[in-house]
Amino acid sequence: MSDEHSQQSPAKQLELISEALQTELNRFSNVQARTRATVSLSEAEKQLQELKDVRTKLLGKKSGFASLKKLIGRLPSEERAAFGQEIQQKEEEFVREFDKEESLRKGFIETARTESESLDVTIPGRRPRAGHLHPITLMRQRIEDIFVSLGYAVEDDREIETDFYNFDALNIPEGHPARDPQDTFYTTDGFALRSQTSTVQIHAMQRRGAPVRMIAPGRVFRRDTPDPTHNPMFYQVEGLCVDRGITMAHLKGTLAEFVHRLFGPETRTRFRPSYFPFTEPSAEVDYSCFNCGGPGCRICKWSGWIELGGSGMVHPNVLRAANIDTSEFTGFAFGLGIDRTCARIYELDDIRLLFENDVRFLEQFK
Ligand code: DAH
Repeated sequence: MSDEHSQQSPAKQLELISEALQTELNRFSNVQARTRATVSLSEAEKQLQELKDVRTKLLGKKSGFASLKKLIGRLPSEERAAFGQEIQQKEEEFVREFDKEESLRKGFIETARTESESLDVTIPGRRPRAGHLHPITLMRQRIEDIFVSLGYAVEDDREIETDFYNFDALNIPEGHPARDPQDTFYTTDGFALRSQTSTVQIHAMQRRGAPVRMIAPGRVFRRDTPDPTHNPMFYQVEGLCVDRGITMAHLKGTLAEFVHRLFGPETRTRFRPSYFPFTEPSAEVDYSCFNCGGPGCRICKWSGWIELGGSGMVHPNVLRAANIDTSEFTGFAFGLGIDRTCARIYELDDIRLLFENDVRFLEQFK
């Protein structure tokens, strides 16, 4: 720029340079006026940088303005003072203008930064979506509460068993169909996934001795193909009561009390003779339908009764396998299906719904 202007008089050069400076400054003050309300933080930062660049270019050490200042010394002495004063005045004026534009943007940037970093404590928080218990867990807890109030301990035991606990100690002889690998899952090391919670009876008696009162809720595994009423993994609750003088009457009284508390005091029980290797005598237990109370409905399949599970007087061989003195102690035991009861209560047509973990289904049990 200085070359281009150098043919003209210093006063003319100053005029031209001042005009160029004013044009740039106007550009910035116009932008500022127009966008004051809406300018973004990044836009303001960009403008500030541009302002600094323009300032360096037009007013800095290598600018036309700077070369003009160097000219002062070479002017005839009568012009020197006036020109010197004028150029200094102009410089001060522009410096002020640039300072003003810069500080406007700096102020804006500072406010915008403070605002974006500040925390509005009045904004409502984001509520975490609360989960809830699975229907099988809810059912298990209701069952546990009832038996705990009757003086039973809750046992939690292993799901992988040796043949001794799964079969031998439960008086299930070699060659019994329940031992068939087609019915039971075996590991390659010869362990079995327990096919019934009855295994816990043995552990509990070994650990606690007699007398003992305990229930054992938990998972069991059978090689069944899944269908609406079967799943290869399901839940049972085992019950065991061993003491002096325990009879079948205690068994009947206990299960009658249980269904009264679970379904209501009008609920009746029915015992049908049955067979289990680990009990003698054995019985299947039914309770009167919680829905119709007897006449028959869809839920009880028009029979008026719903199956609760198996039960009986603990076989002396089972007591002996756990080192309980059979001349002193007798006991009763029972095994109930948790998910089966759950499916009945909620009228589920397909028990697999309980194991698929579909939230659309589970959410209904909040
Ligand atoms: N373990 C049996 C089953 O899985 C249920 C059972 C029946 C448990 C009679 C018992 C019992 O304790 O006495 O089918």
